[in-house]
Amino acid sequence: MENLISLVNKIQRACTALGDHGEATALPTLWDSLPSIAVVGGQSSGKSSVLESVVGKDFLPRGSGIVTRRPLVLQLHKIDEGSREYAEFLHLPRKRFTDFAAVRREIQDETDRETGRTRQISSVPIHLSIYSPNVVNLTLIDLPGLTKVAVEGQPDSIVQDIENMVRSYIEKPNCIILAISPANQDLATSDAIKISREVDPTGERTLGVLTKIDLMDRGTDAVDILEGKSYRLKFPWVGVVNRSQADINKNVDMIAARHREREYFANTPEYKHLAHRMGSEHLAKMLSKHLEVVIKSKIPGIQSLVNKTIAELESELSRLGKPIAADAGGKMYSIMEICRLFDQIYKEHLDGIACTALGD
Ligand code: GDP
Ligand code: NA
Ligand code: MG
Repeated sequence: MENLISLVNKIQRACTALGDHGEATALPTLWDSLPSIAVVGGQSSGKSSVLESVVGKDFLPRGSGIVTRRPLVLQLHKIDEGSREYAEFLHLPRKRFTDFAAVRREIQDETDRETGRTRQISSVPIHLSIYSPNVVNLTLIDLPGLTKVAVEGQPDSIVQDIENMVRSYIEKPNCIILAISPANQDLATSDAIKISREVDPTGERTLGVLTKIDLMDRGTDAVDILEGKSYRLKFPWVGVVNRSQADINKNVDMIAARHREREYFANTPEYKHLAHRMGSEHLAKMLSKHLEVVIKSKIPGIQSLVNKTIAELESELSRLGKPIAADAGGKMYSIMEICRLFDQIYKEHLDGIACTALGD
């Protein structure tokens, strides 16, 4: 199953190389048939922090105000134990980043390149891959935060523009919605719940995450929410405690933060009984498991689109005849190769034969 997720990652990358970015299009594309996980919520609800703790690495611009101004499509690839972790951007194909502070700077710079150094937003995604022994194979999308008012330097339309951009990702039936609500605000006012309820009224593909539990008013707790009594979703709510701004300023590292998060749930009397299903590590495992289930259920749909894509590419190739630009030809062959591998794995899967390892 790991192989299937990593294959889906590869198809996503190949789609991207061919200009299929997963943005809203009139007709469904191959990308649309692949499952992905999008992180949604209000500004400063903790979206980027949750993403970072799922990855277990410090690499995203974070803070108050509108920090995430372009969608970030993040692919996590598990590599062998003991291998050095690194990151790669699609727009810088030959550059390997081993310094994650440099990754953060590049996300900021690449955001500015597209939007100018303003507080404008852009729907053109940034694609980042992280290769690490400490991740699970997942594709996650960080989105700009929903907001209620435009601030200095932003056009009034920004509120609606962000909402439309977020909706264009999460309305796709194959999108798993990671809905982030901060525990120190009334759940009834949660932007994440509001927009996810709109596109997924039955809560079948919405995973509720409650952040900032440590910042709740004294004398209040999140037990009703975490037990699903306040707002019911098909999946159990996961509570997390991310690093505070003070922690970030003091450079508290991820491992220490995860350790502290575990202790928090285990040692707070209200949450003790829920501790086994709380926290970022649990969330990462749950996401990966859920993605597997979703991929399994989507295989027939992916399969038919893969076949259609193969047919289209083949007819395109024959239409172009032999003298085809080396680059374009290579890309087409690589997506065909990927489609064929998918086809093969799918058949093996049907036959109940264990998937064979797929080297990169
Ligand atoms: P985003 O705008 O939704 O991406 O939110 P960020 O991840 O950038 O977080 C906004 C601010 O809230 C940052 O200063 C974080 O340190 C802080 N923050 C996020 N989650 C938590 C949490 O669980 N506890 C505490 N104390 N602070 C948090
Ligand atoms: Na923010
Ligand atoms: Mg953010």
